[in-house]
Order: sequence, then structure tokens, then C-alpha cells
Amino acid sequence: MCVAADWRRLYWWVVLQWVVGVALSAPCAQRCDCLPKLLIVSCSSRQLSSVPAGVPDNTLSLNLTNNLLKTLSRRQFSGLTQLRELDLSDNALTAIEVEVFAGLRNLVVLNLSHNHLKIIPVGAFSGLRSVQFLDVSRNEILVLLDDMFGEMPSLQKLEASENDLVFISNRAFDGLSDLQELNLDRCNLTSVPTEAFSRLSGIVCLRLCRLGLTTLPNNSFRQLGRLRDLEVSHCPWLDSLAANSLFGLNLTSLTLSHCNLSAVPYSPLHHLVYLRYLDLSYNPITIILSNLLGDLLRLQELHLVGTGLLRIEPGAFRNLALFRFLDVSENRLPTLEESAFHSVTALEVLGLDRNPWACDCRLLWAMRRRPWLRFKGRAPTCATPVQVQGRMFADFTEAEIPRLFTCRQARILTRKPQDVRTDEGHTVLFFCAADGDPAPVIIWLNPKRSVLTGSGRIRTLANGTLEVRYAQVQDSGYYLCIASNAAGNDSVSVSLRVRGFPASARNRSGAFFLEGWSFASGQAAVNGSQPFPFDVKTLVIAVTMGFLSFLSSVAVCFIFMFFWSQSKGQIKHTATIDFVPRSAATASGGGRTTMETGRFTMKLI
Ligand SMILES: *[C@@H]1O[C@H](CO)[C@@H](O)[C@H](O)[C@H]1NC(C)=O
Ligand SMILES: *[C@@H]1O[C@H](CO)[C@@H](O)[C@H](O)[C@H]1NC(C)=O
Ligand SMILES: *[C@@H]1O[C@H](CO)[C@@H](O)[C@H](O)[C@H]1NC(C)=O
Ligand SMILES: *[C@@H]1O[C@H](CO)[C@@H](O)[C@H](O)[C@H]1NC(C)=O
Ligand SMILES: *[C@@H]1O[C@H](CO)[C@@H](O)[C@H](O)[C@H]1NC(C)=O
Ligand SMILES: *[C@@H]1O[C@H](CO)[C@@H](O)[C@H](O)[C@H]1NC(C)=O
Ligand SMILES: *[C@@H]1O[C@H](CO)[C@@H](O)[C@H](O)[C@H]1NC(C)=O
Ligand SMILES: *[C@@H]1O[C@H](CO)[C@@H](O)[C@H](O)[C@H]1NC(C)=O
Ligand SMILES: *[C@@H]1O[C@H](CO)[C@@H](O)[C@H](O)[C@H]1NC(C)=O
Ligand SMILES: *[C@@H]1O[C@H](CO)[C@@H](O)[C@H](O)[C@H]1NC(C)=O
Repeated sequence: MCVAADWRRLYWWVVLQWVVGVALSAPCAQRCDCLPKLLIVSCSSRQLSSVPAGVPDNTLSLNLTNNLLKTLSRRQFSGLTQLRELDLSDNALTAIEVEVFAGLRNLVVLNLSHNHLKIIPVGAFSGLRSVQFLDVSRNEILVLLDDMFGEMPSLQKLEASENDLVFISNRAFDGLSDLQELNLDRCNLTSVPTEAFSRLSGIVCLRLCRLGLTTLPNNSFRQLGRLRDLEVSHCPWLDSLAANSLFGLNLTSLTLSHCNLSAVPYSPLHHLVYLRYLDLSYNPITIILSNLLGDLLRLQELHLVGTGLLRIEPGAFRNLALFRFLDVSENRLPTLEESAFHSVTALEVLGLDRNPWACDCRLLWAMRRRPWLRFKGRAPTCATPVQVQGRMFADFTEAEIPRLFTCRQARILTRKPQDVRTDEGHTVLFFCAADGDPAPVIIWLNPKRSVLTGSGRIRTLANGTLEVRYAQVQDSGYYLCIASNAAGNDSVSVSLRVRGFPASARNRSGAFFLEGWSFASGQAAVNGSQPFPFDVKTLVIAVTMGFLSFLSSVAVCFIFMFFWSQSKGQIKHTATIDFVPRSAATASGGGRTTMETGRFTMKLI
């Protein structure tokens, strides 16, 4: 995926020349083969425990791979000023000293892979002004120190995978502004070394695989505006990407595979409008939601292999006019509808194998487009219906497709009228069962024609039943059940009438009344889980106290009137009495308190 740096051309040239010239070889340096014309010295696999003497000064390539070298001394190669390539891989090097490579001012490729280096001192690479490619992979390096690569201004590709890296110092990559490619595969880092990376302003390709990352925080890759290809994979603990984690990047290729992401990271991705390649394989992603990838205008290729994918919603790839490659093999998808795509005419490659495909009208488009599509991987096969089970997509003839790839429209079975009358506070169920092929989806609309979800006081249960708990007067009306599948929809309407408490005992704000005494219940009474803001015990106490205070006020009035009528001779036959009961509602605990002013008129005998 990454751009090839110049070193590769040189490398292949050298290999080719070596293969061609091997017959002409003659001993030169002690125990080495030389190709004098090509200036190549090969000392590989010679059980050497030190660098042999006598390597000609004008050598271009020195190969010391697969030997027993343990140490290199200072200025070891200083005479080889022409050397372009030095291969020290596959040895037993445990340490290298400062200035080992001094004098190798024309060296382009340095391979130190597969040794036992634990630490590389600052200055070890001094003098390597022309090195473009450095391989220190498969060692035991623990930390990258400040300015470690400071004297390698030409370095373009750094291969540092498979080390025990636990720390990268903030200024470790200082001076590597020309570095284009960095590989930190299989290291023990637990976080992205954001500060160290911020010095790699020229980097184009970055691989971070098999790390112990758990999350990507916001701005993890700031100042890497030239990065085009980012690969983060095999991070089994990585389960989240902060919304702005990829902020500042302008990628064309992104791999986030073999991690623990449970959803497509829609918001971290959405600004990557130049993205062409996206790989989210082997993450536990079960659904691709509709319309959330629409910003990735240039996306051409999406890999979602082995994620346990169950559903790709209609409109999932809307706006992706260039989308041509989709690989969803090894999932649990029963179907892939044409409506998921912006336009299926752009599609060229589909990876569909190892999914339980339901071969019905929803896949008809794919069968019709077989001449223009390439099915990647194994041939996809039908899992249902039974009459085509196990048949490969490619096996169907054009003639039988219209007959076999069919659907049966959704039909509601529970058609008998459901008109329910009930009192406030009861729970009501409405049934709605449907059949069809594929199995229909059932939704319920409320009297205001909005869709009811699976939660709340009024909800749709998994079996299609509508449940209205603690029915309220305002729930009354016609509810509509709609069963729909790819072949069409069917609907049936049911009605609910909820009787409230007597009109005199109810006021418009939904307050709850009991025998003339009111307790403000606020808005909380409207939805189910807590119908009243106070419990039954409080209610009983409040009512009792209120009633007692009522009785006592009445009694006081009677006594007063008795004495009054005794003291005056004049007799009044009616009396109007106003009373204010003692604060009953304060006992209801915190709610808004309202008091009804009681008034009654009585006849005195
Ligand atoms: C060194 O020799 C080995 C074994 O012959 C070979 O595989 C390797 O490519 C050589 N290295 C270079 C840089 O030519
Ligand atoms: C360095 O050596 C290793 C092991 O021999 C090899 O896999 C790798 O390709 C070499 N790198 C280069 C650039 O030759
Ligand atoms: C790095 O991780 C590997 C594999 O998990 C482990 O064997 C090794 O001990 C770790 N090294 C360090 C320095 O933590
Ligand atoms: C990341 O940035 C977004 C937007 O600025 C912010 O809403 C979110 O809380 C941040 N996340 C973290 C983990 O800091
Ligand atoms: C992946 O995430 C799930 C929950 O989202 C968790 O149960 C599981 O342990 C995680 N796996 C790893 C390797 O952390
Ligand atoms: C992003 O990358 C594309 C091509 O990869 C380039 O054409 C475009 O100018 C870049 N945008 C910015 C803001 O760097
Ligand atoms: C649907 O489920 C609810 C609760 O689980 C149950 O009461 C009801 O009888 C079920 N309806 C049908 C038609 O099976
Ligand atoms: C039901 O089908 C009609 C036409 O057949 C369509 O207009 C309507 O949008 C469909 N409703 C649902 C909820 O699918
Ligand atoms: C209904 O009760 C609330 C307090 O619970 C009160 O503010 C409102 O005035 C009452 N409305 C009527 C019409 O009585
Ligand atoms: C009750 O309704 C209020 C607003 O009317 C809402 O904020 C609250 O979440 C609801 N509570 C429940 C349990 O549904």
C-alpha cells in the first residue's frame, strides 16, 4: 500500500546482479564470496563471529547476514566509503557502539534486523548521511531515545517492528522530517506516541499493529497532514476512537482491523473526504447504519470481513458514487439490498461468501448484475429458502432467476377488530402478527402517527404486540400496526378509549384528585414508571390529616354557632361557612401545594 522508496530499486538491482554474477564469484576477503566486477561481497551463513578482514575498499554491497556477530567495534567499516548496502541481519548483536558506522557516508540501506539489540545509543548512527532505509525490526529494543536518528537526514523508511518497545521519547524522531514510512508493528506500546509522531511532518505511511492500545484519544495524530495511509490493526483492546481522534489527517487509506470496535467509527471518519480504502474487518460490528458514511465521497473500497455483521441498512452507502468494492465475507448477513448503495452500476467486486444468504427478491439485483460483478473469494451460496439451499449464485440460469428469487408480501394475520375501552391506569395489549417472505418487520404508529419504539410507557414488544401501560385519557385514539417487507406492506388499525375519573375530579394539568382534595402531581404523572410523585402511605396520611382538620374546623364552627345562637335571641336560619383546612398537602412532600377553598351553606334548625 505504501509508496516504494528509492532504496527498493537499488535493492532489486543488486539482487539481480548477484544472481547473474554468482557463477563468476571468487574468494577475496577471508571466507567470503566476491563478485569483483559488481563490487559485491557476500559473507552470509559462514559462522563468522567477527567482521572479516580484507573487504575491498570499493565494495558496494557487503552481506553479513546469518552469522554469529556479537559486537561491532567503533569505526568498524570506516574504510568502505563506497558501500551502498550493508546487511547485518540475522546475527547475535547485543549492542552497537557510538560511531560504529562512521565513514559510511554513501550507505543507502542498513539492515540490523533479527538481532538481540536492547538499546541503541544516541550517536550509533552518526555519519550515515545517505541512509534511506533502516531496518531494526525483530530486536529487543525497549525505548527509542531522544535524537536517536538525528544524524540520518535522508532516512525515508524506518522499519522498527517486532521489538519490545514500551516507550518512545518525545524527541526520538527529531530530524526525520523526510521520513515517509514508519512501521511499529508488534510493539508493547499502550498509547499512541502523539508527541513523538508530531515531528514526522513528511510521513506518508504509518503502521501501528499489534500494540496494546485501548483507545485513540482526540488529536492522536496531529501535524501529520501528509499521512495518506494509516494502519492500526491487531489491537484486541482497542474498543473506542474519540470523535476527533483522526483530526488533522487527510488519509486515502485507513485500516482498523482485528480490534474490538463495536461500531463503525462514523464521527472520527467523517472528515476524511479523500478516503478511498477502508478496512474494518474483524471488529465486532453488527450493523451499518443508514446515511452515516455519506461524507466519505471518494470511498471506493470497504472491507468488513468477519465482523458478525447482521444488517446493512438501506442507504448505508448513499452518496458514495465511486463505491466499487465491498467485501462482507464471513458474516451473518441474510441479505444485501440494492437500496444500500448509491448506485449498483458502479459496483465491480463483491465479497459475499460465508453468509447465510436468503435467495429472494432482495438479491435479485445482484443476480441480474452477475455479468458485471466479480464475486471475490469463494462462490457465494444460498442458505434459504429450502428449495435452493446450497446452490451457488453462479449456478442459476437466467431463466429460473425470476421464478426463484421472489418474495411474498407482508400480510397481517390478526385482522379481527381490536377496540378496547378501559379505565385510566390499566395496561392494555394489542396484538399484531404477520407473515410474509422475508419475515416482515412490524411497527406501530401512535394516534399522532409517529413510530413507537421498544421502550417507554407505550411500546412495541419484540413479538409485534403493542403494550400501553398505565393508560391515560390522552392515550385514546387509533393506533396503526404496519407490517412490511421487501415485497410490500400491510396495516391494520386498532382503537383505544381510556375513561378518566369523573370530570369534576380532574383538571387539565393532569393533577390527581381524591374526594375533593387535590395534590399536585406535576408532569411526572404522565409517564408510567412513577405515576405519582408520592407513595400510597403518604397519600393515606395526608388524606386522613386533611379530613381530620376538616372535621375539626366544622366542629369548631358548630360549637361557635351554638354559643352564638344561645347568646343572641335572634335566630338565623341559614349560615354560609368558609373554611380553610390545615395544610394537608404539605405532608405530601415537596410538590406544589394548592388548597381548595371549601365553602358550604347549611340550614340551621
Ligand atoms: C544476503 O544474503 C542472503 C543469503 O544469501 C540473501 O537472502 C540476502 O538477500 C542478501 N542480502 C542482500 C542485501 O543482498
Ligand atoms: C533485512 O533482513 C531481514 C532478515 O534477513 C529481511 O527479512 C529483510 O527483508 C531485510 N531488509 C532489507 C531491506 O533487505
Ligand atoms: C511485550 O509483549 C510480549 C507479548 O505480549 C511479551 O512477551 C513481552 O514480555 C513484552 N515485553 C515487555 C518489555 O513488556
Ligand atoms: C473529543 O473531542 C470532542 C469534540 O471536541 C469532545 O466532544 C469529546 O468529549 C472529546 N473526547 C475526549 C475523550 O476528550
Ligand atoms: C471487547 O469488548 C467487549 C465488550 O465490548 C468485552 O467484553 C471484551 O472483553 C473485549 N475484548 C477484549 C480483548 O478486551
Ligand atoms: C488531501 O489529499 C488529497 C489527495 O490525497 C489532496 O488532493 C488534497 O489536496 C489534500 N488536502 C489537504 C487539505 O491537504
Ligand atoms: C407477546 O409478548 C408479550 C409479553 O412478552 C405477551 O404478553 C404476549 O402474549 C405476546 N403476544 C403474542 C401474540 O404472543
Ligand atoms: C407501504 O407501502 C406504500 C405503497 O405500497 C408506501 O407508500 C408506504 O411508504 C409503505 N409504508 C411503509 C411503512 O413501508
Ligand atoms: C388544576 O390544578 C392545578 C394545580 O394542580 C391548578 O394550578 C390549576 O389551576 C387547576 N386547573 C383547573 C382548571 O382547575
Ligand atoms: C417522563 O416524562 C418526562 C417529560 O415528560 C421525561 O423527561 C422523562 O424521561 C420521562 N420518564 C420516563 C421514565 O419515561
